[in-house]
Amino acid sequence: MSLPTSVAIIGAGMAGISAARQLKEAGVAVELFDKSRGTGGRMSSKRTDHGEFDIGTQYFTARHGAFRAEVERWHASGWVDTWQPNLYRIDEQGMQPSTDEQHRYVGSPRMTALSRALLEDLPLHNSVRITALDKHEQGWLLTDADGNHYGPFDRVVVATPAPQAVPLLSAAPQLAKAAEQIGMEPGWAVSVSFATPLNTPVEAAFVRTGPLDWICANHSKPGRSAACTWVLQSTPQWAAAHLETPPAKVADLLLEALGETLHTALPATTLVHAHRWLYARPAEDSEWGALAAPDLGLYVCGDWCLAGRLEGAWLSGRHAAHAVLGQH
Ligand code: FAD
Ligand code: NAI
Repeated sequence: MSLPTSVAIIGAGMAGISAARQLKEAGVAVELFDKSRGTGGRMSSKRTDHGEFDIGTQYFTARHGAFRAEVERWHASGWVDTWQPNLYRIDEQGMQPSTDEQHRYVGSPRMTALSRALLEDLPLHNSVRITALDKHEQGWLLTDADGNHYGPFDRVVVATPAPQAVPLLSAAPQLAKAAEQIGMEPGWAVSVSFATPLNTPVEAAFVRTGPLDWICANHSKPGRSAACTWVLQSTPQWAAAHLETPPAKVADLLLEALGETLHTALPATTLVHAHRWLYARPAEDSEWGALAAPDLGLYVCGDWCLAGRLEGAWLSGRHAAHAVLGQH
């Protein structure tokens, strides 16, 4: 199989970035397209006057050997750091310290420092939502929401959440069908800055009661500004029941739950922002690695092809790159 000369990658989250880096290292010209203004997809940070908040991926772990080696490289480059918060588990029985031996990593000084570093030498079209992929004799042509065209490309890698991949896969009904099977669950993330520190030893907690799933003192991560900033994430079930609740109301409800969970009166807030993730995580893991229609030159990856974690996204992008290179 000859090497493709040009590959378009739709989605600049960790899966798309991983595919792009592996292909570039193999000598293939890649171009990335993302509908967002920023980078990193669900590995996202929000910049505010009160500091930066990680509103998607909170931290990541590395279990697979190849990913561990990659994370060590990122660590050595100063793009990620280890994070060892005062970790708790909070359930109906109460609050238990729950520190462990797990290595947890965060982008430094914000989650998107990692995506920015990994994308530095890669061509990326931001704020471009791809709406159609068409295979012509000369290759794949991409069309965006404003009617602009890009290409031709030898191959295309779709690296978006499953529901956003489906409309791009009409040329390969078997891939569209596979993506359609994947349910993705929503989540709300509230960023909050407090005027004074909270009266609690907790820096992060897995919450197993009420609407909250995870709470985290964002400022306890390495390299963050000193302001007292927290991120509160809801369970998928609570988010599904509050999909259309106004963001300000969501913030009120999750802040109330924070006070109850920590058994403390909360100080005044100086900033509150709620973000709704419609496709936060795949409902189940799968074992696809990546999906491929090699006869068409169309490939699909994303966390939902393996597991809803940053590592799953990176590994899936790597699977897609190997498939593009004919290494499977
Ligand atoms: P994404 O990051 O979603 O990237 C897809 C990209 O495609 C996006 O940038 C999107 O803008 C773009 N896109 C979509 N459609 C189009 C289109 N038509 N045209 C152009 N671009 C398009 N994982 C962990 O390991 N640890 C955690 O602590 C953790 N916490 C999380 C908390 C939250 C709130 C959320 C939402 C996720 C969390 N995750 C966590 C999961 C982790 O963020 C994801 O597994 C991973 O980031 C997914 O990467 P991806 O590249 O597959 O998808
Ligand atoms: P991990 O090994 O730290 O956590 C995995 C799960 O194990 C946790 O969710 C928690 O239930 C449990 N756990 C781990 N350590 C614990 C401890 N010390 N005390 C009590 N419980 C503990 O990390 P991994 O496997 O890399 O998972 C990533 C994290 O990303 C998970 O917490 C997951 O819930 C979260 N995530 C959140 C999403 C969202 O939308 N909010 C989407 C995808 C992932």
